[in-house]
Amino acid sequence: MKKILVIGGAGYVGSNLVPILLSEGYKITVFDLFIYGNHLKNHENLNIIKGDIRDFNLIEKILNKNFDEIIHLACISNDPSFELNPHLGKSINFDSFEPLLKISKTKGIKKFIFASSSSVYGVKDVENVNENMSLKPLTDYSKYKAMCEDLLMKYSDKYFNTCILRPATVCGFSPRQRLDVVVNIFANFAFFKNKITIFGGEQLRPNINIIDMSLCYLKLVEEKPENINGEIFNVGQENHSLNKLAEITRKVISKDIAIEKVNSNDNRSYHISSEKIFKKLKFKTKYDIEDAIFSLKEAFEKKVLINTFDNDDYFNIKKMQSLNLE
Ligand SMILES: NC(=O)c1ccc[n+]([C@@H]2O[C@H](COP(=O)([O-])OP(=O)(O)OC[C@H]3O[C@@H](n4cnc5c(N)ncnc54)[C@H](O)[C@@H]3O)[C@@H](O)[C@H]2O)c1
Repeated sequence: MKKILVIGGAGYVGSNLVPILLSEGYKITVFDLFIYGNHLKNHENLNIIKGDIRDFNLIEKILNKNFDEIIHLACISNDPSFELNPHLGKSINFDSFEPLLKISKTKGIKKFIFASSSSVYGVKDVENVNENMSLKPLTDYSKYKAMCEDLLMKYSDKYFNTCILRPATVCGFSPRQRLDVVVNIFANFAFFKNKITIFGGEQLRPNINIIDMSLCYLKLVEEKPENINGEIFNVGQENHSLNKLAEITRKVISKDIAIEKVNSNDNRSYHISSEKIFKKLKFKTKYDIEDAIFSLKEAFEKKVLINTFDNDDYFNIKKMQSLNLE
């Protein structure tokens, strides 16, 4: 079975993805700084290494262990956390990337899958934003994602096969929970405060259920390297408006929930097309936003997630503020 290194594999996406990869029989090593702790369960095929992606000696040593593939998720992964300390954000999200690519290529990695973001497009007027359209990142977080994409393309060849994923915003329950992404924020407020506040309302926000997110990475792992080499894929479920997302949340949480609307200058609307990944790889999302909200509702009811407004682990910005990482 293939050996896969998942960098940043203890995060929101990684802690959902890794058990799925393990259940398919892959041998997984997670390399992570555990900023938000380690919520991965022990498994005979799981090896966990704590470390910083900026420690190139350690990366080199780890990659001596003959991995077939890398999934790269490690990141200061939202705009506010990045802006808190732009120097730190750049050093993790961008400066470490080219050295990582060089080492990966030298050590014979056959496939390198990179988690970019659909935010690299910025705001576009057209209906369906596809992978051929120009990138106009609006924040440094997105700008460095786009710059990493360029680097990855430069290093890609027939031995070092690369693939870029541009996911929508992820939602739903995961062992390492984030409650700072739009659908999860709505669910948290609806369940515990019986109220959802919407800034604006008509703006579109593409989302993807976390299980589909993981299944998408699994699909890329299963594909022959040459089949996805040099490719870029958007992936998301529906492009709902904030108003619609709030309505869906109210329906699933099914309580008496007030929806408050606040005027906002931020009328940025995002909408992506996931046609390409469907046409080329036959990948289609199976779970919807309702399922994601339901998974959170269950976790709230069963007290798997507690203290959901005060626990810094659920909010990247608060955690980064409390850590003072350099
Ligand atoms: N969650 C989303 O909505 C979303 C949407 C689009 C793209 N993405 C991308 O997917 C990836 C995963 O996102 P996520 O939501 O799981 O983020 P996350 O913040 O939950 O996870 C990131 C992980 O990277 C680790 N990490 C950070 N800096 C590190 C370092 N210097 N060395 C080693 N490990 C380090 C953290 O400890 C954490 O476990 C990110 O690259 C993100 O940009 C996420």
